[in-house]
Amino acid sequence: MSAALPTSQKALFLLAAKGDWSVKPTDVPTPEQGEVLVRIESSALNPVDWKIHDYDFVVPEYPVILGSDSAGVIAAVGEGVQKVKVGDKVLHQGLSGKRQAAFQQYTIVSEDLVAKIPSDLSFDDASSLPVGVATAAVGFYAPKGQGGGAALTAPWKEGGAGKYVDQPVLVIGGSSAVGQAAIQYAKLSGFYPIITTVSPSNNDLVTSLGATHPLDRNKPLSTLADSIKDITSKPITVIYDAISIPETQNAAYKILADGGTLILVLAAAVKDEDKVKGKDIANPYGSAPSQGAFGKEVYAHLGAYLENGDIKPNQVQYVSGGLGSIPDALDLLRKNKVSGKKLVVRPPETA
Ligand SMILES: NC(=O)c1ccc[n+]([C@@H]2O[C@H](COP(=O)([O-])OP(=O)(O)OC[C@H]3O[C@@H](n4cnc5c(N)ncnc54)[C@H](OP(=O)(O)O)[C@@H]3O)[C@@H](O)[C@H]2O)c1
Repeated sequence: MSAALPTSQKALFLLAAKGDWSVKPTDVPTPEQGEVLVRIESSALNPVDWKIHDYDFVVPEYPVILGSDSAGVIAAVGEGVQKVKVGDKVLHQGLSGKRQAAFQQYTIVSEDLVAKIPSDLSFDDASSLPVGVATAAVGFYAPKGQGGGAALTAPWKEGGAGKYVDQPVLVIGGSSAVGQAAIQYAKLSGFYPIITTVSPSNNDLVTSLGATHPLDRNKPLSTLADSIKDITSKPITVIYDAISIPETQNAAYKILADGGTLILVLAAAVKDEDKVKGKDIANPYGSAPSQGAFGKEVYAHLGAYLENGDIKPNQVQYVSGGLGSIPDALDLLRKNKVSGKKLVVRPPETA
């Protein structure tokens, strides 16, 4: 490691299950074979961060550092790293724990799981992407099975770009971070029309990403099937429910055609008695670092999609105060007070 690197940094710790948060000093981790150390410039917040706090899951040991979305500059590289170098600006997905989490000033990432940030994107913009991108890509394209997806042909595979031309897709919750990424991958896959449910104030946002028919998400879900029939008479064989509350899941499952797949970002809540043979449910785990070869595949192609503008960042809402401001900002997500935007903090600003 370079001598210029600090040995200590600040991190936001969740001290105990459902407990207090505290910004404390901790060691700067050392990158091992194939890993890079990133000096984080921006970290974005996700609903899962407050859910882990409130419901205590996926954390084997406390105190823990959370955070999954970040962007920064490579500060050091481990042995054998060839794809990136010190000074590169990258975005990447964190893992709760210690050395790989995003709510700290330095983090460790595999060189296979970073994407270079194009010059027209800020660190704040870039940090808005990793979780949404991974969750959308896994949901549509990862192999079927636990934590997997609908096994569609990815647009980066031969014959995958535009493959689903003239097939409709429904994205429930198009203005959510996951929904925005799902719309953009659906466009790369050629789906048409791309129908989505959204608050009308976010219509321009979702159409700028590729949605062709935004529908008011405040209308009763019982009217959704008829609204879709006004747009297309084709069967809906792919539905990405980026909200996945029981109400949207059950409405989506009824709309799904036989032989189709409903992609859910939360645990399935479709009633057993309503289930029909031939309608699949996929429950993606949107974590590139946990998806093995598929996660690396997503990152191998993400840089080019960003460079070409095929995948655009979320609009961001900057929260001042660095890591210490995260707990209060998470409360905005908890209370559904953020619409169509990603909350972003800058760890270097931490007091
Ligand atoms: N399975 C996984 O690995 C995974 C990964 C990431 C996220 N998730 C889960 O996926 C969900 C979405 O996460 P996110 O980060 O994308 O959320 P987010 O960006 O915080 O979602 C906020 C958006 O949700 C929209 N929304 C809320 N209720 C809606 C409804 N009933 N219908 C349509 N839109 C609705 C709002 O839209 P309007 O303002 O336009 O009304 C708002 O823009 C969360 O439950 C999260 O925990 C799961």
